[in-house]
Amino acid sequence: MKRREFLSWVGVGGVASFLPLAIAACTTSGESRAEVSTTPGKFEAVGTVAQLEAEGQILNENFKNGAISVTRNPEDSELLYAVNPTCTHQGCLVDWNGGERKYICPCHGTEYSPDGTLLKGPAEENLPPYLVKIEGDQVLVQAI
Ligand code: FES
Repeated sequence: MKRREFLSWVGVGGVASFLPLAIAACTTSGESRAEVSTTPGKFEAVGTVAQLEAEGQILNENFKNGAISVTRNPEDSELLYAVNPTCTHQGCLVDWNGGERKYICPCHGTEYSPDGTLLKGPAEENLPPYLVKIEGDQVLVQAI
């Protein structure tokens, strides 16, 4: 075997032997990123059940995710909704209207259902929802 043929053979063999490692590294890297992006945050207290019962809403403007509003599902009081009450139009804090069971923006009148679904513009997007649960007397929202 000539020197040139030998080096060519070693080069092909070298690439072939490192290829699975390179693919595995890419795969591992991609999976890690997916795990990081889907890893849920910890649930943290935003208020108490007594506060929710007394006021019909928990509004916590200093939560990790930004402002948080928690209300009860009007059809099933055992279920809660948590949303970021920052209007998706131009960023005003929306008001909870317990009588009409919806959020109404004081700036330009956008309306959202308790789960944050857009009911009436000028905003074009829903309020961002968060996972929420009750443990003992605490209302907990999942931080992101
Ligand atoms: S900021 Fe809420 S409707 Fe414009």
